[in-house]
Amino acid sequence: MDLSSVEPGVGTLPPRARFRSSLGEQSLNGDWRFRLSPSLAAAPAGIEAEDYDDSDWDRIPVPSSWSLHDVARRHGAAPIYTNVQFPFPLDPPFVPDENPIGDHRLSFDTGEEFLSGAVLRFDGIDNTADIWLNGELLGTTRGSRLPSEFDVSHLLRPAGNVLVARVAQWSATSYLEDQDMWWLPGIFRDVTLIARPDSAIRDLFVHAGYSDGTGTLRVEVDSSLPATIAVDELGVEIAPGQTVELDHVTGWSAEEPKLYAATITTDVEQITTKIGFRTVRVVDTQVLINDRPVVFKGVNRHEHHPDLGRVIPRSVVESELRLMKQHNINAIRTSHYPPHPDLLDLADELGFYVIDECDLETHGFGMNEWRRNPVAEPEWRPALVERMTRMVNRDKNHPSIFCWSLGNECGTGDNLKAMAETARAIDGSRLIHYEGDWDSSYVDLYSRMYAAVDEVEKIGQGVEDQTTDPAADAHRRALPFILCEYVHAMGNGPGGMTEYMELFDKYPRLVGGFVWEWLEHGIRTHTDDGREYFAYGGDFGEPVHDGNFVIDGLVSADREPRPGLIDLKKVYEPVKLEVAEDWSTLTVTNKYAFSGLDHLRFDWAAEDAEGRYAAGVLPGVAVGAGDRATLALPPEATAARHDGAVLTVTARLAKDTAWASEGHEITWGQAGSPAAAAPPVTGDVPVEHTDAGLRLGPALFDAATGRLVDFGGAVVDGPRLNIWRAPTDNDNGMDHSVRRRVSGGWERARLDKFAGRLATIAEVHDDAGPGLVITTRYAAPSFDRFIDTTVTWRSDGRRVTAEVALELSGEWPPNLARIGLDFALDGGYDRLAWAGLGPGQQYPDTGQAARLGYFSASVDELQVPYVRPQENGSRQAKRLTLSGGGRDLTLSGDDFSFAARPWSQAVLAAAEHAIDLEPDGRLHLTIDHRQQGIGTASCGPGVLPAYALDPAQLNGSDLNFTLTLE
Ligand code: GAL
Repeated sequence: MDLSSVEPGVGTLPPRARFRSSLGEQSLNGDWRFRLSPSLAAAPAGIEAEDYDDSDWDRIPVPSSWSLHDVARRHGAAPIYTNVQFPFPLDPPFVPDENPIGDHRLSFDTGEEFLSGAVLRFDGIDNTADIWLNGELLGTTRGSRLPSEFDVSHLLRPAGNVLVARVAQWSATSYLEDQDMWWLPGIFRDVTLIARPDSAIRDLFVHAGYSDGTGTLRVEVDSSLPATIAVDELGVEIAPGQTVELDHVTGWSAEEPKLYAATITTDVEQITTKIGFRTVRVVDTQVLINDRPVVFKGVNRHEHHPDLGRVIPRSVVESELRLMKQHNINAIRTSHYPPHPDLLDLADELGFYVIDECDLETHGFGMNEWRRNPVAEPEWRPALVERMTRMVNRDKNHPSIFCWSLGNECGTGDNLKAMAETARAIDGSRLIHYEGDWDSSYVDLYSRMYAAVDEVEKIGQGVEDQTTDPAADAHRRALPFILCEYVHAMGNGPGGMTEYMELFDKYPRLVGGFVWEWLEHGIRTHTDDGREYFAYGGDFGEPVHDGNFVIDGLVSADREPRPGLIDLKKVYEPVKLEVAEDWSTLTVTNKYAFSGLDHLRFDWAAEDAEGRYAAGVLPGVAVGAGDRATLALPPEATAARHDGAVLTVTARLAKDTAWASEGHEITWGQAGSPAAAAPPVTGDVPVEHTDAGLRLGPALFDAATGRLVDFGGAVVDGPRLNIWRAPTDNDNGMDHSVRRRVSGGWERARLDKFAGRLATIAEVHDDAGPGLVITTRYAAPSFDRFIDTTVTWRSDGRRVTAEVALELSGEWPPNLARIGLDFALDGGYDRLAWAGLGPGQQYPDTGQAARLGYFSASVDELQVPYVRPQENGSRQAKRLTLSGGGRDLTLSGDDFSFAARPWSQAVLAAAEHAIDLEPDGRLHLTIDHRQQGIGTASCGPGVLPAYALDPAQLNGSDLNFTLTLE
């Protein structure tokens, strides 16, 4: 096996489109014989021989990622996760001697139809394989996520064929496949035998454009026999190469993905394929699809399955694409390789704009100042150009693909330009994308990742910094701008999505972005005692790894939406609904590029503390694509307005679609305010001195600490001032060294070790009546910075109010996590009901999906089970009631947020996986007056200034607040 070749694969057929023909296919997926060796030297010899005895080999399913199967794990194979860094020395084209080799063997019989000519197709083998059929070497596959086809016409027989694949985990081409994901070797996509006699159609290229109401169709057919192309629905029959103009076609778009079935017929076969009429152009720095400017509301999608690795059953792909559509996502970047081809069929059918990305990333060379970077070394050019050729040819007939991407994070080099030229030469009808070369001289989009809001705004205005080369500068300024990655969905977050969407709406040049990333790559794992968790980097003992950086998705590895996805749905809403404050009108903005609102129905509902009390339907909401209109709300809706009530207008699907049922909610708008302000507590009862402590109405205070220890019979410990939170991934930032990250600043300042000392405790009798004034000095070990916290307590006999005043002194780090009060309550409280924003979590720069209303949840339901535990579950309220064990405790006050957990923040912060969290028998309640936003610094910019909690900026109402307990 030649593992150090930088050449393209060997023995493979020229690339072509994937299509299904009447001549037949035979799937060779299934149970294969398998043997894992730790190195090529240790691998058995002679396995290609037909009579080789493999009876003592293991069995493995094909397709599979072998590291997720016991038969390989038993022999030491394990998943390895690295982001940028290669897990082996950077010594191209060589790879380590320790190089797991997976030998695969299959015996199969085949039908008559394959004997007059056939092709064997491997849709994906990671990383390289030598292939033999019936003892004869067919060649070598290279390019893990691209198909390789071999001509097997001369070799097949009806029975007892022996197919052998020797797969190596590492080869020279590993240097081209350094994507941020698990390294997972194996035959991970389908293996198919395809009947292909000489007379068969070799390739098909459909050109179906659309402009100004007219469709244009031309189909190239590579065939030795005459062929005809028929589109029955359009009454069209044409010859290969013939162009027809059709004035009665419906164009294809992600909003209305109209496909037409076409049949290509020769004397020996029939091929059916689906055609979408779609033209992409760049005009005035905008991307026009069928003449309309489009905003890409996208996500980056990797292929990952928590149990199967890089093998994703079609049903899973289908359900995740539906889930995307249900969350208003209209675009996918296939980061960072061509996907399983089924995804593209589904994208055509369900409606997505796709950036199809080549299987190429050389990011790890960046750690070595890009020395010997393959994209800049001539010896690699044939292999790189060949990769592009294979992707474009495989996928050229998909209307969903509007753009070819050369790859990801390869730095700069002439080979990239050669790839771009190659793609253009094959298919000039789509745009070319590559992010890593900001001069953008050979691409059609100016693309960046994680650019901050203010820089993106400058680009929107066309006043970004110049490139060094004036010609490149002029070219780039004429390009639309796209964020191929933005808002990093790692852990709690991403914060600040709204600000980007506002820019996309405002500046035509900003054509949208792709959230990083759709999916977490957790691997489902079990502890010895059977508890399940998602593993991340390092959990398999990899000596070099990047920890939980692989857990950064809008959905979990098993496709459960994280709060970020729920928020994104609102941010990506295709229709904006604004209800006037007096409930008299509704302003509707139609943000679709093509669709009117006929496919939606609109209803309204009014709700107060007692529940929903009025509702109705809004007739006649007709607003054209791109338009806005203000309509009167029905008089019953306007009349329903009262204190403590909320009006919600909802847009739903009026009928079933391929991706959701009738009634599915698209978006909503609201006005009103849940919960009227609570009446103020007057100080009516005096402080009593008892053996147990100081009593004020229902509250009992410890005279030595000044802390509340009992409230109406419930055991309480608090309040304690809290300015820290269990760091989120975004607090931790990308640079995990303690110096640079926000949470590192907190640690260095020891905010997690903040503690209070009772300074004074005194009774007061003033105009507001009797009360108890407790001043506590909070500080962290080793430092002379303080927060003196004075709480004035008063009670009317039934309730108590705490008036809190904070005074900061000394030098503080630039950010605090929060200003909050911690209470530990006895664990009997297990349900919470609140008036405010819900049902999901919300932080200053997240929670776009949180709506006004009345909500309730169990303590369990309030937790977000992030794979690496961290701050979560905060919700804004005006009024909060805890209940359980027949008791109720109500807190009310100025808008506050709360989080309630069965474990402490310290335990939350220390946990590495969700299973490390165990309830300690108490309910830990935090009532926050202020919180720092979340931002997206796990990769990208941090919290925007408007959402930062900077101690130097605190004043007035930031430092004074009131809380009433009842
Ligand atoms: C980008 C990269 C992605 C991923 C992301 C961080 O730089 O293109 O593949 O690594 O950062 O999660």
